[in-house]
Amino acid sequence: MPSVDSVRVAVRVRAFNQTEKDAGCGCIISVALNSVTIWDPRNQSNAKTFTFDLVYWSHSGFIRNEEGILIPDGPTSKYADQKRVFNDLGQELLSNAWQGYNTTLLAYGQTGSGKSYSMIGYGPDRGIIPLTCDELFKAIKQDQEDDKQYQIYFSMLEIYNEKVIDLLSERKQPGGLRVRESSQRGFYVEDIKSVPCENYEQIEQLMKEGTRKRSTASTNINMTSSRSHMIITVQFKQVFLKEHLTKQSNINLVDLAGSERQKSSGSEGDRLREGTAINVSLTTLGNVISALAETAMGKRMLHVPYRNSTLTKLLQPALGGNSKTLMIATVSPADICYEETLSTLRYAERTKNIQNKAVINENPTERLIQELKAENAKLRLKILKIRNSGQRVQEETEELRSLLAENELQMAEIQTSWEQRLEKAQKEWKHQYLNLMQERLMIQLYPYLSNVNVDPQLSAFVRHFIQDGECVVGQSGNFPRAIVIKGLGIADKHATITNQDSKVTLEPHGQARVILNGVLIHTKVQLRHLDRLILGSNSTYLYVGYPCERNDEDLSKYDYDFFQSELAAVEGFDRDALGHASRNNRSVDPSVLAVFHDYIRVKPMVAEANQISRELNKDLTFELEVKNLALTDSRGSDLAKEVMVKVTNKVNYEVWAWSKAKFVNRKFIMEDMYQRFVDGENISVDRENDPFWDPIEAVHLGTAYVWLQSLNYCIVLEEHVEFHNSQGKEEATLQMNLVPCNPRGQPLGEEEILIDPTELVGHRLDFQVQITQCLGIKWVEKNIKRGIQILYHVLNHPYSFHSDPVWNTVNAKIDHTMQFTVKCVSQELLNYLQNHALVLDLWGLQEGCAEMVFPGDFEVTDEGSIIVDYERSQLPHSSNVEKGDDQLSELYIRLSKLEQETDLLRDINRTLRRDNVTLKANIKKMMSAGSRPGEKSFHQMNTQLFCWRSTCKASCEVDFAKALKTFYKSMNRVQSQLLGLRRHRPPDEDDVESLRIYLHKQTQGIKDFGDHLESCINALKNDISLIVKKKRENTTRLDEARFYSTK
Ligand SMILES: Nc1ncnc2c1ncn2[C@@H]1O[C@H](COP(=O)(O)OP(=O)(O)OP(=O)(O)O)[C@@H](O)[C@H]1O
Ligand SMILES: [Mg+2]
Repeated sequence: MPSVDSVRVAVRVRAFNQTEKDAGCGCIISVALNSVTIWDPRNQSNAKTFTFDLVYWSHSGFIRNEEGILIPDGPTSKYADQKRVFNDLGQELLSNAWQGYNTTLLAYGQTGSGKSYSMIGYGPDRGIIPLTCDELFKAIKQDQEDDKQYQIYFSMLEIYNEKVIDLLSERKQPGGLRVRESSQRGFYVEDIKSVPCENYEQIEQLMKEGTRKRSTASTNINMTSSRSHMIITVQFKQVFLKEHLTKQSNINLVDLAGSERQKSSGSEGDRLREGTAINVSLTTLGNVISALAETAMGKRMLHVPYRNSTLTKLLQPALGGNSKTLMIATVSPADICYEETLSTLRYAERTKNIQNKAVINENPTERLIQELKAENAKLRLKILKIRNSGQRVQEETEELRSLLAENELQMAEIQTSWEQRLEKAQKEWKHQYLNLMQERLMIQLYPYLSNVNVDPQLSAFVRHFIQDGECVVGQSGNFPRAIVIKGLGIADKHATITNQDSKVTLEPHGQARVILNGVLIHTKVQLRHLDRLILGSNSTYLYVGYPCERNDEDLSKYDYDFFQSELAAVEGFDRDALGHASRNNRSVDPSVLAVFHDYIRVKPMVAEANQISRELNKDLTFELEVKNLALTDSRGSDLAKEVMVKVTNKVNYEVWAWSKAKFVNRKFIMEDMYQRFVDGENISVDRENDPFWDPIEAVHLGTAYVWLQSLNYCIVLEEHVEFHNSQGKEEATLQMNLVPCNPRGQPLGEEEILIDPTELVGHRLDFQVQITQCLGIKWVEKNIKRGIQILYHVLNHPYSFHSDPVWNTVNAKIDHTMQFTVKCVSQELLNYLQNHALVLDLWGLQEGCAEMVFPGDFEVTDEGSIIVDYERSQLPHSSNVEKGDDQLSELYIRLSKLEQETDLLRDINRTLRRDNVTLKANIKKMMSAGSRPGEKSFHQMNTQLFCWRSTCKASCEVDFAKALKTFYKSMNRVQSQLLGLRRHRPPDEDDVESLRIYLHKQTQGIKDFGDHLESCINALKNDISLIVKKKRENTTRLDEARFYSTK
């Protein structure tokens, strides 16, 4: 009778990693008994609770004991250590196996969430797999009976890019092992090595071997294991000799690839998203789980697409078949991982519903032989039929023959006794044991290079010992003494390492790329304990000195990120360069940290892509850039950044800008292509499938800002502004006007300038954007066949507007006029105009690329002006401007003060107006009191006074308007200067001279800015004090006049 059970699901919450700690992340998860609650960091009231079979809190409440193992820090701690997880999950696997059930444990979660930590473990923190195997042998030892025999076989494979790689086999498997299907065994891997083991130490050794193989493979091209799935199978047989009965269980332990969704990890938005098989297995696993879950919940019977991927074929029994299955879903508790964590929890919840039907596998040996015999008879009959029919179906016959041969081999295998197998394995063990002993000895005798992998699980597995004398480091093993490194960009003879009198030196050959502690070297250097080496594109090694130089250091500190951060810092790129914090505030802005992390992770991949491009004779070069998203922010905030890859064709200078996700996706396809090239396969593909090909497209060159505040005062603005690229460098100069106008498009005159913008509230506002010229366009200067187009957004209008393209000229006449109308001005709009700019983007056109066209279905006024009514909630807001560097912040504060002063002046103006109103009322009152005979007519006099007062007022207001106009014009320049200063980045070159020039320019720029700001303020203050003085004089004269008139 099959045992029908649901998949049992556990969730484990890990501790913060270093990046999360540095970023000051918040914890958004809490657990209680069997439930997990997760909060949306952007909306705390949005919480979701899930329940699971088991929940582990491994986030806090732990200490390291003297053996180096993480344990709870007290009796009240709820910390779940490795032991506790094993006690539940590992023991359950063992209990299933002893009963004769197949059993599977799957680890699912995003990269770095703790799958390998839970499954395999790190150092003394052993995970479920070692603990389970250890326990199995311990139990066997205690359960020895004469008439009972135990047999344990161990196999370890990896699925990468849909290929199956046997991690225990030394044989080269270019295309990977084949996955076959037979009616008895279902899907299975042909020729997989399954090693008989007698004790736990052997299993430990095999796991090391397997990991070493993964590690070596991934040092060739630094393909990350987070993209591969690892399956360990422990086959456990209990042979009851007296009863001629065998109970058999396959214990499958699966460490799945990182579950990142396509958005963050790969192909979204790329034309070539179907080109890679990298995600096929994981995507299919999701589809299989969904189909099974829906079927189990009785929604409908769905087709389960097991056959669509290698992984799901091999996991078929575990999902809905003959297996008792468990899943451990690992999650990060950090707020920055909210989306991924939530998606993992949902996935785990779905998996809970899957029902399996496990049967006890009793006596399978005899049954299997019978079944294999029967199948072979059928196969022979089929072959005979084909032959008799006279058909020449070569392929089909061959397939049948190989199935037949495989079955016969399997029968022979089954009939081979356990003892015979052990004997064979013993020979290999001896060989391996010798190697192991030798390595242990060498570690105690010599210095060595130890590999450092992007996946910490694969670091320190490859060791190259440096013995006395000279040896050549490189691709080639043809030198008498060689350290063979097969990485990208490694020359046959890359460098020479010499060990003389216990002094180790390294000398690069020719132009070979050798980076020592972040610095590119060309001459002989002495190596010192814990030096970091990057050879070629990205083969990373830690130099471990002689034993006498070692001090029990924690080598794991020198991880992949350490190497890459060090390199980035030497190249002038560190967190400070991104402007993460002011000097008196050391906290790191999480978004900056995320960019920094992206940068150091993508940088080596860019080096590899360049190398692959060179070796495959492609003409593309790749450059990593940090794109300043502020360039599209109308407030000029410059903290939002992202990395992107600029791709250039060396031959025709075509240029593309790839997002990080697109580049990462393409890089995987390039790697696959390169691997096939190395294996001698034909790699020609049509251009639609070529990762090095893309249609020509327009390229974003830079952004210019034209501040909108002049519209508030109905002042015409004639501007010359620079387009700056994402590195802050000038790309071109733009000439444009922002012209307030009447509905028919006639510009407003000076007399219509407003002193108090609130007068606009409730009224219609019309203005024109006039783009006249774009001068000194560097993009076209480099290649006259190119063109440009300018694109801009107006307020929050959903469409962007653009000028017509102009080709083949460095100084382009543009002649673009577009009129816009805000039907009813609100206070919010005035605030927006006061602080924001019109953002204009310069796009570079290349021969053959599509030009941008207007959508054309705008809402327009009767006069044909485009309506840009605006809603407050949609306007972008930003308050990050203050976060710049100290000196600039100070200037910014002064700018804000200036704005406050302007507000104050506006208030004064308002008070004066109010005074006028009171005055007017008084005059009216006096007039109504009547005039005395014989005196000058009071009415006459007051009319005179009133006219005079009105003239004074009008003249003051015109003066005020003029002062404001001058002020806003010069402020526009000041604001552009400020932006320019904030964009001005240190040079890429690392020589002191360029830095000195940069510093000089920056200091000069700041001084100019300060002077300009100062003169603006002074001019305004002067103008205003003159106006106030004039107004006071007028008021005094008016009072005097009134005094005399009442006499
Ligand atoms: N429960 C935990 N307690 C302490 N540290 C942990 C825990 N889980 C994971 N870590 C640490 O987090 C890091 C990443 O973990 P791990 O290698 O297990 O991730 P992964 O899920 O296997 O990622 P990938 O998909 O890239 O293989 C490791 O340095 C590991 O030591
Ligand atoms: Mg892992």
